[in-house]
Amino acid sequence: MFRLLFNARQFRMIADSRRGQPCLKRLALRRLDDSTLAPMTQPTTPIFDKGLANTIVAESQMSYIDGAKGILEYVGIEIDALARNSTFEEVVYLLWNRRLPTKDELSAFIKGIQAEYDLPAPMWSLIKQCPKDASPMHALRTLVSALSMFDKEADDDSMEANQRKSIRLLAKTPALIAGFDRHRKDKEFVKPDKSMSIAGSFITMLTGEKPTKTVERALDVCLILHADHGLNASTFAARVTISTLSDMYSAITTAIGTLKGPLHGGVNEEVMHMLNEIGSMDQVEPYIRGKLQRKERVMGFGHRVYKAYDPRATYLKTFAKQVAADTGNQKLYEMSRKIEEIMEKEVAAKGIYPNVDFYSATTYYSLGLDLDLFTPMFAMSRIAGWAGHCIEQLSDNKLIRPHVAYTGPHAVQYVPIAER
Ligand code: CMC
Repeated sequence: MFRLLFNARQFRMIADSRRGQPCLKRLALRRLDDSTLAPMTQPTTPIFDKGLANTIVAESQMSYIDGAKGILEYVGIEIDALARNSTFEEVVYLLWNRRLPTKDELSAFIKGIQAEYDLPAPMWSLIKQCPKDASPMHALRTLVSALSMFDKEADDDSMEANQRKSIRLLAKTPALIAGFDRHRKDKEFVKPDKSMSIAGSFITMLTGEKPTKTVERALDVCLILHADHGLNASTFAARVTISTLSDMYSAITTAIGTLKGPLHGGVNEEVMHMLNEIGSMDQVEPYIRGKLQRKERVMGFGHRVYKAYDPRATYLKTFAKQVAADTGNQKLYEMSRKIEEIMEKEVAAKGIYPNVDFYSATTYYSLGLDLDLFTPMFAMSRIAGWAGHCIEQLSDNKLIRPHVAYTGPHAVQYVPIAER
């Protein structure tokens, strides 16, 4: 693995790490010139790269992103083609095996997932112990962690065991989310339907009714679009955890905690709060302009990587329109379009466009999902990427351990508590 310096605007802070030095000095804070653009192996001095925005820390064969052109491919196939033609299960197979399956391979893969849908009996009891007013993301993170205690292979770090655990995590997470939702609403659990897709079984567990084809397909598309996305924050968190040779459950638990933040997966929920706050079409303009004037972020816009239209949002936008029309939620869609129009005039020049969560929020809402289930839905899908990245990390592992630039004092005398 190598570290690639590819941004000439990076600044380098060189810290004197020699033992015994009274303070960490900024010996040099200088602009890197073009001669430093070659790949470097084992740099002798750390590079200061806040937010790691210009640092490559791992290799992956799953998703390719060209943020400037707005391209996302899973194993070389454009996301748009997958969203239009594939299924979530086929996409997971693609990500984990780096190729599309044959009909027989896909059917065996689906059967393997369906066989793992149900939870161990104590997990259903554990769901009932969760406080009903807990946030579903807190519940999900806790329950995924708890699953490890019922998996005899939890600490088996062989490749085969990790593949089996990936399937278990992917298959059981929908039951954890739906089970918790029914528990908090004082409803009886509905067991997974082993004849259905992940999306179909999830809706059945959640609502107690089999979904229509439109609903099942809408969820399936959202699952496809969120399955993997390079080294986003939660995937990085998963890789950091697994790089310590911890275990798959710990890595996925870490990732869920990271996904929860409003600058990452939590944003789709924030988008709906924003739309509810706006309330009506005539309030869109003053609300958005007010936010921009106050230099506040408009949720569902902008991306660390995409400085062009998020390719996941392209199809979802069309799809959201159709779902909104089918479910009588046109007003919501029209408000979203108006927000996009204003944002296009005001901030598109800065490379700020709607991201995948802007339209996934309205899609989930139109389907009748509670707002606080939006991020768990994202997690349900991203387990595909997290697990795949964990396996990639383990196949060429190096402990991920960057540096921090210490900016505190030195040589401070210890004062006994009685004298303070
Ligand atoms: N609304 C208004 N202005 C924005 C927004 C936004 N959502 N995002 C960025 N900007 C402006 C920002 O104020 C800055 O302007 P200026 O140069 O005048 O100071 C400029 O665009 C560049 O912003 P940045 O902070 O350097 O961009 P970043 O790459 O650090 O931030 C981001 C990326 C996603 C954190 C940010 O765009 C944001 O906070 N968006 C809202 C939250 C959101 O939708 N997050 C979900 C990301 S997609 C889901 C995922 O893949 O996890």
